[in-house]
Amino acid sequence: MRATAIAQPNIALIKYWGKRNITRNLPAVGSISITLRDLFTTMTVQLDPDLAGDVLYVNDERDDGMLPRISACLDEVIGSRRMHARVNSTCNFPIAAGLASSASAFAATTVAAAGAADLKLDTQRLAALAGRASGSAARSLYGGFVELANNGDDIEMTALCDADSWPLTVVVAVTQSAPKAVGSSEAMEISRKTSPFYANWVERQPEDLSIARNAILARDFKQLATIAEHNCLKMHSVMWASRPPMMFWNAATMACLQKVRKLQGEGCSVFFTIDAGPQVKAVCLPEDAEAVRVALAATPGVTEVLVSGLGAAARLVDPQ
Ligand code: PMV
Repeated sequence: MRATAIAQPNIALIKYWGKRNITRNLPAVGSISITLRDLFTTMTVQLDPDLAGDVLYVNDERDDGMLPRISACLDEVIGSRRMHARVNSTCNFPIAAGLASSASAFAATTVAAAGAADLKLDTQRLAALAGRASGSAARSLYGGFVELANNGDDIEMTALCDADSWPLTVVVAVTQSAPKAVGSSEAMEISRKTSPFYANWVERQPEDLSIARNAILARDFKQLATIAEHNCLKMHSVMWASRPPMMFWNAATMACLQKVRKLQGEGCSVFFTIDAGPQVKAVCLPEDAEAVRVALAATPGVTEVLVSGLGAAARLVDPQ
């Protein structure tokens, strides 16, 4: 009746932006991501017949704001006629600021809920359930490089390459750690309804996925760098052209992009990607990670730099 799971966030190299079914939270496009190793969320779910309602603690503080989404996730996994739960979450990085904290939180919740209810579900099923809570959470059920594809009325996951087979490093430049103003679900709907670039974004995604998939299978860093930066900038162009426009970047975000360009000019194997927040994720070969870390840490407006390797899938941990 109690289980603890750990999950790491993932960073999309080919992005998910837009939904094709809001009720089932199905994405309009496929995506490819890398799962991190050193940032993580630990989630304990304790089912308790004596509780009058679900309770959630995040980093030892009660969190009623996030509770409805966690309760809905527990309903999806265990069923709505379940016992109430005490859920304890700890997270070693800033929450809701474009660092994919929802991906690791919902991946860990899904695995812990299935463990607490003693359900034996395979990884595809757990990914589909986590994806209902947060589209990107499905990808944290896998380690290393993973592709999420649309398949009929569901999603289908493919592990492309494990973390040890291509051990890239991710340097995250934090430029602001406050929670974002617009949540990604709401922002995606604004883009779908108003951005003149949205239809083209959806139409061209299979091409970007195919180029990135081939680059990963061939361990071709240059090809992956070019397509990942292109796909990221395209997603942000969709957001910028939405009405109202959604601009998640700040001046330090732009300064980091220029720093990455400079590093590339000096021969560093590095590329950038940015999600629905102002942080810049610089993906690089391990031998260039220290140079990238030093350069981004020295960029004006960068408040913190986090470094992570690539890691494993969400999993149950002992002791429960
Ligand atoms: O899973 P959500 O609803 O937090 O959306 C994630 C959206 C992006 O982070 C911007 C892109 C992605 O694929 O992770």
